[in-house]
Amino acid sequence: MPRQAVLILDFGGQYNQLIARRVRECNVYCEVKPYTMSLADIRAFDPMGIIFTGGPNSVYDEKAPHVDPAVFDLGVPVLGICYGCQLMAQALGGSVTAAQDDSAREYGKTETWYDTNCRLFRDLPECGISWMSHGDYMEKVPEGFSLAAHSRACPNVAIADEKRGFYGVQFHPEVNHTEHGVDMIRNFLYHVCGARGEWTMEDYKHTAIAAIREKVGSGRVLLALSGGVDSSVCAALLAEAVGRQLTCVFVDHGLMRKNEGDEVEAAFRPWDINFVRVDAEDRFLTKLSGVTEPERKRKIIGEEFIRVFEAEAKKIGAVDFLAQGTIYPDVIESGAGDAAVIKSHHNVGGLPDYVDFKEIIEPLRLLFKDEVRQLGRELGLPEYLVSRQPFPGPGLAIRIIGEITKEKADLLREADAIYRQEIAAAGEDRNISQYFAVLTNTRSVGVMGDGRTYDYTLALRAVTTSDFMTADWAQIPYDVLDRISTRIVNEVQGINRIVYDITSKPPATIEWE
Ligand code: XMP
Repeated sequence: MPRQAVLILDFGGQYNQLIARRVRECNVYCEVKPYTMSLADIRAFDPMGIIFTGGPNSVYDEKAPHVDPAVFDLGVPVLGICYGCQLMAQALGGSVTAAQDDSAREYGKTETWYDTNCRLFRDLPECGISWMSHGDYMEKVPEGFSLAAHSRACPNVAIADEKRGFYGVQFHPEVNHTEHGVDMIRNFLYHVCGARGEWTMEDYKHTAIAAIREKVGSGRVLLALSGGVDSSVCAALLAEAVGRQLTCVFVDHGLMRKNEGDEVEAAFRPWDINFVRVDAEDRFLTKLSGVTEPERKRKIIGEEFIRVFEAEAKKIGAVDFLAQGTIYPDVIESGAGDAAVIKSHHNVGGLPDYVDFKEIIEPLRLLFKDEVRQLGRELGLPEYLVSRQPFPGPGLAIRIIGEITKEKADLLREADAIYRQEIAAAGEDRNISQYFAVLTNTRSVGVMGDGRTYDYTLALRAVTTSDFMTADWAQIPYDVLDRISTRIVNEVQGINRIVYDITSKPPATIEWE
């Protein structure tokens, strides 16, 4: 059976990845490509449907991005979103102008009425909120199209040519603010493009394993395993595919969270692979001794990591493939087509230069983060690894303010573990994107029993965010904060005061260093 794939042509819209995620959530494979993709490449991709994204331009601008109009002759259904809708309208003989009066410009949540006889809106309520963001107006709808939705201000919020399978919406069905937006995308995929819903992580697992086996043959694969979600899932997939041909090197720099090293090791016990765990705590702590400046800490850890990895790689000898856990958002953001993009915290600063290998393999490069997690579950990785929150490469080093010592790292590990336990027990982990404790460099006076203490202040950080570029501080209930504070000061000797960080990003960052 031929592969089913949707092509998303990106016109620079801020939601391009979101559209792709929605399509994949509907169990349909898709890829995001720049709008400059040639007609020959589009043909070769053989899409079952094409989606044009939104974009910041106006279609009548001189430099506005366009597509080859022959794309409309391929016999492939098209869904144009916002700019994509206007582009399609213009290309097919309609006209688009700047909205003359404010009432025709629409931004934000807008009450919208849908024609539920149109395939795009089949089985949906006749009225709902849609998320608009357009300042242009479709003055003339192209021939063959009918009006399929309207708002108070705009008679042509959606247009449809059911015969050719062309649809345009001026709003953004991919954002959560649009009620039933995903249903509209699903209707396009299933009722217009004829999707069969074949894209599942179970299928992907089998396909990826077969592809890895074919590529690797009897070669040897080396992977730097950090214990993060991406590298862990990458390791599990390779383990399943090539077993003992895989060597995972897990460098434990001694700045991991409590039990983390053991957990990572335990997770890979079911597979018969070469698992090398390097206990490099002393080495890292010696190098970091006396260092207080955050960027120096990062640099030292990055460099030391490479040295340790290099030493292990030398012991292993030449390998054929160096595996990396690059995922799809890194590939899309680069806009660089097939060029390998190496996220700095995947390889902690340029491993390939130091290791003797022939080729890089990146078995997750087409997957979104939520798909990577799902694949991890399919592969049988434990939930604590698969749903792990982000953890910075330099680890606790950037959560210990000032000089790093083993004593401080142990204090922080204990306090952080209690914090995480209590957040999970309260069910707050489902609402919070990232949470951790920070050991400040401040000591203050306290009283415990009848005695005076002069101990460290611990800061608790918790944020909600969708992209980690901006973040809000999480509003943890007071009773949960109270339990965390009481347990930490009682159970961790050396900490006598707990504060909660109530700063958003910006102006603060998520980490303290
Ligand atoms: P900031 O502190 O910049 O953090 O708001 C944003 C996200 O990135 C993580 N982070 C890092 N990850 N190496 C990493 O792999 C690093 O050096 C690093 N610094 C910050 C941070 O945990 C948060 O998720």
